[in-house]
Amino acid sequence: MAESIYPVPADWADNALVTAAVYDERYRLSLDDPDRFWREEATRLDWIKPFTTVKDTSFNEADFGIQWFADGTLNLAANCLDRHLAERGDTVAILWEPDSPDEASRSITYRELHEQVCRFANLLKAHGVRKGERVTLYLPMVPEAAVAMLACARIGAIHSVVFAGFSPEALAGRIQDCDSRIVVTADEGLRAGKHVPLKANVDAALGLHESGVDTVIVLKRTDADVPMVEGRDIDWTDGVAAQSADCPAEEMNAEDPLFILYTSGSTGKPKGVLHTTGGYAVWAAMTFQYVFDYRPGQIYWCAADVGWVTGHSYVVYAPLMMGATTVMFEGVPTWPDASRFWQIVDKFGVEIFYGAPTALRALMREGDDWVTRTSRKSLRLLGSVGEPINPEAWEWYHRVVGEGRCPIVDTWWQTETGACMMTPLPGAHALKPGSAAMPMFGVKPLLLTPEGEVIEGAGEGCLAIADSWPGQMRTVWGDHERFFQTYFTTFKGLYFTGDGCRRDADGYYWITGRIDDVINVSGHRMGTAEIESALVAHPKVAEAAVVGMPHDVKGQGIYAFVTTNVEVEPNEALRRELVQWVRREIGPIATPDIIQFTPALPKTRSGKIMRRILRKIGENDLANLGDTSTLADPSVVDHLLAERPQPA
Ligand code: WTA
Repeated sequence: MAESIYPVPADWADNALVTAAVYDERYRLSLDDPDRFWREEATRLDWIKPFTTVKDTSFNEADFGIQWFADGTLNLAANCLDRHLAERGDTVAILWEPDSPDEASRSITYRELHEQVCRFANLLKAHGVRKGERVTLYLPMVPEAAVAMLACARIGAIHSVVFAGFSPEALAGRIQDCDSRIVVTADEGLRAGKHVPLKANVDAALGLHESGVDTVIVLKRTDADVPMVEGRDIDWTDGVAAQSADCPAEEMNAEDPLFILYTSGSTGKPKGVLHTTGGYAVWAAMTFQYVFDYRPGQIYWCAADVGWVTGHSYVVYAPLMMGATTVMFEGVPTWPDASRFWQIVDKFGVEIFYGAPTALRALMREGDDWVTRTSRKSLRLLGSVGEPINPEAWEWYHRVVGEGRCPIVDTWWQTETGACMMTPLPGAHALKPGSAAMPMFGVKPLLLTPEGEVIEGAGEGCLAIADSWPGQMRTVWGDHERFFQTYFTTFKGLYFTGDGCRRDADGYYWITGRIDDVINVSGHRMGTAEIESALVAHPKVAEAAVVGMPHDVKGQGIYAFVTTNVEVEPNEALRRELVQWVRREIGPIATPDIIQFTPALPKTRSGKIMRRILRKIGENDLANLGDTSTLADPSVVDHLLAERPQPA
């Protein structure tokens, strides 16, 4: 099939903030003279004390370190709130749409948000929260999630947001890892009309392990009757009522930590990705303005959850830094029906919509009518994030949702990168469906062979980044060595992304997906090792290996190979039990799609599981299993193939 190309529409080519000529000039400057480039871009923020040095970074072992704007000081909450008050205090900062269309939406102005943040920050302080302390947030998609994040930033506390879909076990691990003494949650969350027992999950998490948590702040969302622990639990509303609306913003160094966000890697437990203040802020704000061509007054909606990095950077921080009106949606795209997204677009007059391919694929399956019965005339730009978007979904998004008039920015980035790393810019780059197009300013992508040879020109290989950018993560919380080992040793002196990538003859980049043991299920990133360790924690399971498999809607599904203990008879009941078990251990996002029981896993003579073979079985690419002769028992593979179940 010939590759389609969509040229930059004429009005964009003429009027965008970044046109083709501007992109070329600024991109070159960003690499040739980073000092000058970033000095210019950093003026987007209000600094308390201006920085004198821009960049002090090295990816080499001998002098490894990453610092940006290191001697400057600023406060990110003040950049999101205070500095807007004089000019746009009455502008809507957050437009909130609840799960159910029958409930009223809320709109919160910058002035109101500022006041709420100050009160909540004072409540945190009243409970002893100090600069540098970790505060765990386990909240639904309600404005108070943004309030709590900004309140932490205001007083210099480090927030660790845990996605509200995670289980008590997963929550407990994250609370423990960053040694958090305080948890902010809600009585319940609401999703597609279902109640999510958040407070009960917190109680369960705190009962699981010895925990140092002495304070739990509870927001009322549904007014469910939740037991409150005397001396530990505080009602949000009662708590803030007693607080003053005046809370000075702490002067933070650019390199002071801003937040921790746990994400999955190819090995071990999820790692606490640490972002700091100044570089992250510059990077998030700049990319937001250029990628979405954001102009003051426009209504912008990023449909991600604040539990993920996309929600941190593009629901909360970047739009608020730029004085935008950001829409926050509590619910799901398909409830009460598959028109929900587009009804919200019409209700608020959304001009920029940024969503995930998995949602688009789910909606595409429901048919065009759910879309076309809505107006969507306000839309001018569409975005995609979180996983590769297949050209079919891209075309549908472009033709049906955007009626052919809205460019699509397919933004590639990671929790580790803080904000967008590669994307077409709507006024600068012709679009190729499925391609993340071009690097953002300051980003120098490299493709390498697994042996570390740099691939020039067109080709496919492992994607690495040659030099630091301001929004790069600074460390893994509590394990700096792991940070270095994970990202900077595969290719010496380079940041390795874990992704595979192709570059075409026009220099466009095409992300092909993870090449490590990380899988991306409905845009949620998971380590196969985490799911394996959840499975083997079950008393009837001896061994487990998990791989990704192609899935029409989720992008990737979860395929688990399980060996039971000898005395156990694997059957349908056990399969169901294991599915529930994993959901309980990690959360519903980790629900296995296939569990295949097998008397043995394919292993080398030295006892190492040959994951390559399992991956091929997962992908149903049975003709390319490769050499199986080095297996201790090659017949294991025949058995696996004969018994391969089909997805439900
Ligand atoms: C994948 C989400 C293709 C990629 C912001 C990356 C993408 C991982 C895209 C990071 C995209 C993200 N095209 N793949 N536009 N965006 N990915 O940390 O594999 O949740 O490494 O960050 O998602 O996932 P994370």
